[in-house]
Amino acid sequence: MSEVRVKRVAIGVTGGIAAYKSIEVLRGLQQAGCEVRVAMTRHACEFVRPLTFRALSGAYVIVDDYSAENPDPIAHITFSQTIDLFVIAPATANTLAKLANGVADDFITSTYLACTAPILIAPAMNSVMWSHPATQRNVQKLRNDGVRIIEPDDGEMACGTIGPGRLSHPERIVSVALEILGETRQRLSTSESKPVQDLIDERILITAGPTREPIDPVRFISNRSSGKMGFALARAAMQRGAQVRIVAGITTVVPPSGAEVIETTSAEDMRAAVIREIDDATIFISAAAVADYRAKHSSPKKLKKSEAEMILELERTPDILKQVGLNKKTGQLMVGFAAETDDVKSNAQKKLSQKNLDMIVANDVSREGSGFESDNNAVTILVRDNPLSIDIPLSSKPEVANRILDEVVKLRRRTTSAMSAKHSKL
Ligand code: CTP
Repeated sequence: MSEVRVKRVAIGVTGGIAAYKSIEVLRGLQQAGCEVRVAMTRHACEFVRPLTFRALSGAYVIVDDYSAENPDPIAHITFSQTIDLFVIAPATANTLAKLANGVADDFITSTYLACTAPILIAPAMNSVMWSHPATQRNVQKLRNDGVRIIEPDDGEMACGTIGPGRLSHPERIVSVALEILGETRQRLSTSESKPVQDLIDERILITAGPTREPIDPVRFISNRSSGKMGFALARAAMQRGAQVRIVAGITTVVPPSGAEVIETTSAEDMRAAVIREIDDATIFISAAAVADYRAKHSSPKKLKKSEAEMILELERTPDILKQVGLNKKTGQLMVGFAAETDDVKSNAQKKLSQKNLDMIVANDVSREGSGFESDNNAVTILVRDNPLSIDIPLSSKPEVANRILDEVVKLRRRTTSAMSAKHSKL
């Protein structure tokens, strides 16, 4: 019988007020059966003492690898090359900048450069610092280098500012770390085993897959959509506590179990189902690839090849998302997709405003290895009233789904706090 090796995780703690939350990350990973070692920057020691991490991890905490007490003379090499995952939480703007540019002037940044294991970074900082183009550039660079970033949450921070920048919930950091390690969450005790239930109050209606527009009883117009992205969103949303209803076209993959699925065929069927269900939804995600045209006169009998040429007259199908977006109710969030082959961002931006959406997920469908039929996707998310776009590099569709839902959760928190601020002024 093969022996299961204990997974080794290193946590790098950098200097921010959220440093104390790394204790929960450490404990969560230990409860999942991981062996955890900790390194800290000098500034992190201003917030939490190394002794705390030493007592909890049972191992020497490295701050300065030149220190006489350090038991290992080349710790940044041995430390980095004996681990299965390197988690940096919290990561300050300064650390992000150094990592993005290959600066290795302390133990954590040198370990990062020498590390062969996957890297997971959870930034935390003041929201103005987080939104600064320099920080966003650095985050994007790190993503391009293959680093997994857990974006900070929105909320009130230690400095009193409200906005994005707060360290993501330690439970979520642990959950993503275990996902990267390929550990099943069943190894965690029950309360920790669930992903964060941040969609518990939402009823989400999702369209998925292609529509089919009949030409005659044997032929139809359709497209290459498989339904995988819509189903991945449905699955992830259910795992995060949402009630999910799917309106599906004819897909090539099986929908997630536990979701209510309404099967449809044509754009008109799909529109009718969406219109029936939309009032009950708090969020609508339009992931379906709806055919834009249908045969003006679909034939009840099979068309015969009597002529050398045949002209098929087409007419526009209803734009379901536009109809729903223009009639959206207070509190409903509308999320669209944009399948593009060129001018991806500007075309997506137009759809965002023309269809009255809150968010749009732009997909370059000409890119190899992503989009239609693939198990992976690379997308750019644009959010209403936010000039910063978010690029999600090529990742599995379940990962992309969770990143999209992270943005939906943030948007929900922003709109809820804006609404309560408005009411308190009245
Ligand atoms: N959509 C829809 N009904 C349609 C066409 C599209 O609900 N008849 C939705 C899609 O589900 C997607 C968004 O609108 O969320 C954008 O779809 P896309 O195919 O990218 O763009 P179109 O609006 O169809 O415009 P074009 O084909 O000209 O790019």
